[in-house]
Amino acid sequence: MATIYDIARIVGVSTATVSRALNNKGYVREEVRQRIWEVAEELNYVPNSTARSLINKRSQIVSLIIPDISNPFFALVARGVEDVTRHFGYSLLICNTDGSTFREKQYVQIAREKQADGIIFISCQVSNNYLQELTSNLPVVVADRSVEDLSVDMVLNDNVEGSREAVRHLVRLGHQAIATIRGPQETQTGIDRYIGYEKVLKESGLEVVPDYVRDGDFKEQSGYYEAQQLLKLPHPPTAIFAANDLMALGTLNALEQAGVRVPEDMALVGYDDIPIASRIKPGLTTVAQLKYELGQQAAERLMWRLSNPEEKLKPETVVLKPRLIIRESSLVRSIVS
Ligand code: RIB
Repeated sequence: MATIYDIARIVGVSTATVSRALNNKGYVREEVRQRIWEVAEELNYVPNSTARSLINKRSQIVSLIIPDISNPFFALVARGVEDVTRHFGYSLLICNTDGSTFREKQYVQIAREKQADGIIFISCQVSNNYLQELTSNLPVVVADRSVEDLSVDMVLNDNVEGSREAVRHLVRLGHQAIATIRGPQETQTGIDRYIGYEKVLKESGLEVVPDYVRDGDFKEQSGYYEAQQLLKLPHPPTAIFAANDLMALGTLNALEQAGVRVPEDMALVGYDDIPIASRIKPGLTTVAQLKYELGQQAAERLMWRLSNPEEKLKPETVVLKPRLIIRESSLVRSIVS
């Protein structure tokens, strides 16, 4: 395998010049830099990251731990993270936990073994008391879902306010029989969106009907199944608030198969505003979360921590504002009760 010594010998420069040229650090005459890169390519040179990490005690690796890589929400967050970490010369190790705390622990352990310089973490449960000891002396930024007992920087969206906007919209349309397919109640986003739903019903003088509260898992199939259960009730709802767009898509599928028209027979509101929400027919009314920006800001926060290791600034929490996007799935019409 070619080394920087081989490149230096062929080009006729020192290994320090080769290292500066390949790491884009320090001054190298342009024609020499180009020649070094040409020779490195001809020799299929691969930098020895272990050697580099020994020199600057940095692996230049960041781990991004997310619950569901197939969900467009997390893909957009990851895009925001990667655009920032790449800009700072870091490689991103994307770890998919599928909502398993066991896999979360595994991936945190792997991040340590790979000597990752930091972790951006979207947890699969709010009480991650194992995280404190696992991530001690390793910079961590929590994104999207807050975590108890973890004193680290957090970048979140305001889920209570977002779900209040969604349900207030349905109440304003005149709906009184409003069901929810809620997210996992072990996640902060699932918990907070249900809190927002409950608050608005109570503020509006509406009862929380137990049969109208369905437990989903943020995946499409759970929306499909729970929507079917709602349709089997003796008095089905006239509106459904799904706590994320994938469950809203499953709901839409179940309603369509049952011959239930949206929004004429059933209004539907989702949460996230993933790209497909605006492309399906009817367009999905949903709460738009900042996704790319969430990832960007979480990564920027981590880069700041890594660039200022001596700074002992106490962790801070940033909360981004979601906004309701009204589309055809909750057509504005008065309900004659
Ligand atoms: O769609 C997945 C959901 O889980 C999103 O709403 C996001 O907030 C995450 O918590």
